Amino acid sequence: MTATRPQPRPGVLDIAPYVPGKSTAPGVAKVFKLSSNETPLGPSEKAIAAYRAAGEHLEDYPDGAATDLREAIGAAFGLDPARIICGAGSDDLLNLIARAYLTDGDEAIHTTHGFLVYPIATLGTGAKPIVAPETQHTADVDAILKAVTPKTKVVFLANPNNPTGTYVPFDEVKRLHKSLPAHVLLVLDAAYAEYVTRNDYEAGIELVATSENVVMCRTFSKIYGLAALRLGWMYGPAPIVDAINRIRGPFNVNAPAIAAGVAAIRDTAHVERARAHNTQWLNWLTEEIGKLGLTVTPSVANFVLIHFPETKGRTAKEADAFLTKRGLVLRAVGAYKLPNCLRMTVGSEEANRLVVQALKDFLGQAA
Ligand SMILES: Cc1ncc(COP(=O)(O)O)c(C=O)c1O
Repeated sequence: MTATRPQPRPGVLDIAPYVPGKSTAPGVAKVFKLSSNETPLGPSEKAIAAYRAAGEHLEDYPDGAATDLREAIGAAFGLDPARIICGAGSDDLLNLIARAYLTDGDEAIHTTHGFLVYPIATLGTGAKPIVAPETQHTADVDAILKAVTPKTKVVFLANPNNPTGTYVPFDEVKRLHKSLPAHVLLVLDAAYAEYVTRNDYEAGIELVATSENVVMCRTFSKIYGLAALRLGWMYGPAPIVDAINRIRGPFNVNAPAIAAGVAAIRDTAHVERARAHNTQWLNWLTEEIGKLGLTVTPSVANFVLIHFPETKGRTAKEADAFLTKRGLVLRAVGAYKLPNCLRMTVGSEEANRLVVQALKDFLGQAA
């Protein structure tokens, strides 16, 4: 039968639209947004200055190849700039990867509480998202391998994962890669890599450098504090970089973002400060919230996943409402199949202390 109006391709209407973390608390004078894993330190002053300078020339198209930025990233990480692609956020790159490597009937694997952009990007291509179960809120290599079928084309692994904050040690990532068929693309999404301080963690540079079916995605939205500019990058094997360059928008990264990104990646002192702040307060929050009797999933990123009981008066939903009334905006993660949890970004000292006090009051009033 002929349709009476344009129809999106199969899969598109199966997508549950991505709902960003809320940013307001009605009627509260001072709001602490702890719902989107943004850095409480803001970006480098040098990045802000570079952004402002680029703003003097908004009439000019950006360099479509983002050459300066790829060279700055290459210098910072010891990578060949020719094997780097920049994107309008790593979201852009994840979608481009899906578009280049998935089609109708294919399958792409992600884990139970994996980042929501993976099923969205997958469904947008007509392919099917396949969910591999996690163990203790952590990606499980054996479960991922078990989910592989002849239709599998892509495996998305957030490492560390959002919203759980857990990670897969590099040995396990290598084992996953070794057991995947050579034609399956392993996407290592290392958006929070800069925060991790564990010896057995690696973002995946070595694996990308030594194989033909692994890419690593990174972002400027988290530790670099440039989320508003939408800036991410991918490092991959030459043939994959070539394929993605063919389909990306010719000017997918804007000029102020390129300029700010170059300055941000060079300001290593700022990154160090942000990492030190995070390590200190991540540990403090995990301990203090734990002392209140709430379970906190051990996190290596810049946020914590807090588990609430299902008892009336103590639920995640009620805690969310209580905290929001005090201007403390956390992230409800029901869409991530975690209805009894809230995710809290590691904030400023003031915000962190206020949340712990508010949680104490919340649990106290329910007692
Ligand atoms: C695991 C993960 N990957 C990718 C992103 C996307 O980051 P952006 O598009 O801002 O670079 C996020 C953002 O929350 C994330 O948590």
